[in-house]
Amino acid sequence: MRRKLIVGNWKMHGSQQQVRQLLQDMESKAGELSEDVEIGVCPTYVHIADLVAARSSDRIMLGAQNVHAEPEGAFTGEVSAPMLADYGLHFVIVGHSERREIFGESDQLISEKFIAVQKSKMVPILCVGETLLQREAGETEEVVLRQLDVVIDAAGIEAFADSVLAYEPVWAIGTGKTASPEQAQQVHKVLREHLAKQSPDIAGAVRILYGGSVKSANSDELFAQADIDGGLVGGASLQAEEFISICKSAD
Ligand code: 13P
Repeated sequence: MRRKLIVGNWKMHGSQQQVRQLLQDMESKAGELSEDVEIGVCPTYVHIADLVAARSSDRIMLGAQNVHAEPEGAFTGEVSAPMLADYGLHFVIVGHSERREIFGESDQLISEKFIAVQKSKMVPILCVGETLLQREAGETEEVVLRQLDVVIDAAGIEAFADSVLAYEPVWAIGTGKTASPEQAQQVHKVLREHLAKQSPDIAGAVRILYGGSVKSANSDELFAQADIDGGLVGGASLQAEEFISICKSAD
């Protein structure tokens, strides 16, 4: 039985005061949820240390939105996995489509980041997803499996025992357009079946989150799908009440 997991990706939002308040509000509402659902949020790098110090429990796990693949060195402006692990972070998002598209990250670089996160004993949340053009060209499965295969080839199937996958169709991110529960389920099933070819056990245990305009109005239906194990939530995770409502759909 896979425990549901809901992760908020705060992206580049919030002042120090706002993110403190947001986490505090989420913590006070998290008591309404059972332990059956795991929850986490990923603030910007600059807010991590402050939130680690300010939080009142680890009920809401903390993660990062990105990482550099090397453990240290002359990489001006970058942050390494050991530095993040030092703050007790639970997970790190790798391969988000905004990193792939805006910052030009390659499948190869993403696989190196995935490995770096695991080396530092944190859990990578590996994002895959197709653009609208790719979906319209009927290439969705080919694209997400290619993105997944590069990481399987580099890290090995066993690495997926300690990782989370997220299917985020690029056309659904920040657009208000959600994949229908059936569309999302279809891709989640393809991803799981693909992993199962190499390890049925790992495929059965790995959590696959859906991301792309998740909100409380659509989360019930999405999380009811057999292969959707929770959500990676952008905009709707910036409001405590809305985020906790989404978490309740998974409870
Ligand atoms: P939205 O929920 O704002 O569409 O963002 C999804 C996302 O990119 C989460 O990583």
